[in-house]
Amino acid sequence: MIVVTGATGTVGSKVVAGLRERGETVRALVRDTGSVPAEWDKGVEPVAADFADPASLDAALAGADAVYLLVAVHPEMSAHERNVIDAAVRTGRSPRIVLHAAAGVEQRPEGVRFVAAHVTGYDHLVASGLPWTVLAPNGFYQNFVGMAESVRAGKLAVPGGEGAVSYVDARDVADAAVRALTTDGHQGAVYTLTGPAALSHGEIAAQLGAVVGRDVEYVAVDPAAALAGMLAAGWDAWRAEGMAELYGLYAAGYAAAVSADVEKLTGRPARSFAEFAAEQAGVLRGAGEGV
Ligand SMILES: NC(=O)c1ccc[n+]([C@@H]2O[C@H](COP(=O)([O-])OP(=O)(O)OC[C@H]3O[C@@H](n4cnc5c(N)ncnc54)[C@H](OP(=O)(O)O)[C@@H]3O)[C@@H](O)[C@H]2O)c1
Repeated sequence: MIVVTGATGTVGSKVVAGLRERGETVRALVRDTGSVPAEWDKGVEPVAADFADPASLDAALAGADAVYLLVAVHPEMSAHERNVIDAAVRTGRSPRIVLHAAAGVEQRPEGVRFVAAHVTGYDHLVASGLPWTVLAPNGFYQNFVGMAESVRAGKLAVPGGEGAVSYVDARDVADAAVRALTTDGHQGAVYTLTGPAALSHGEIAAQLGAVVGRDVEYVAVDPAAALAGMLAAGWDAWRAEGMAELYGLYAAGYAAAVSADVEKLTGRPARSFAEFAAEQAGVLRGAGEGV
């Protein structure tokens, strides 16, 4: 039985679906068992637990053979990862842990809180004695869906400077996760998951423009102005500052490396951004469901 945390989110929901396609029995950790996705069949057992509540994690992980450990972006996210790892140790069964971290966990850049939180979780996992694998994805293509309104108005405005980023499709991250959870040979491996190319935000704007049928201009927002904008839009300070740090990394070109690990794990090339944008045409133009 495989426990999936973050099971209702962007990646976790796809991991649950991928595991079910392979016939695996899944226990999906959710906060509210009253509102589980309609597509979950009898092979998915929802269990209520909270990353901040160790007793609930003990119950959720009991009997697990493997755990997909994905925590949400949160000021306590590193404690949340530690709590799940500690609960896995307490099962006494040594379940395999596949930690969903972020690109940069091996390079350990200074001053990027989202990556730093995963580094703490990674170190805790290695010290735990559990069998482990780490997935380190770059930013997701899916993040651009949230910018569709601005794209339709002709602008992609982010503080990404001129740095290129090897963004990746969250579906490829999920497919890689399913392989890491269900096949052997991944113990002690860190897989960096990227798309097939590093694209500047200008190139991304052009590709999005081709899909929505208009010129889309990339506006390299000044980092301080971007932070002020997020705060004015009601973002909490911790998350807004974290996003500004992450875009600083992108602008400096530190997220441009392209890895072959998606193909290594899944046996097929990573999806391109153009492929993703074409599939998302409906949602980018203001109608339809996202992938
Ligand atoms: N977005 C990116 O570009 C990117 C790139 C690389 C790495 N990452 C990493 O990916 C992770 C986020 O993945 P995602 O985008 O798939 O997440 P997401 O869509 O934001 O979903 C978060 C999931 O966590 C659950 N959750 C939130 N708080 C919880 C709690 N206290 N206890 C139990 N469950 C809780 C949510 O469940 P509910 O239904 O209960 O809310 C949901 O299932 C983060 O660790 C981030 O650092 C993101």
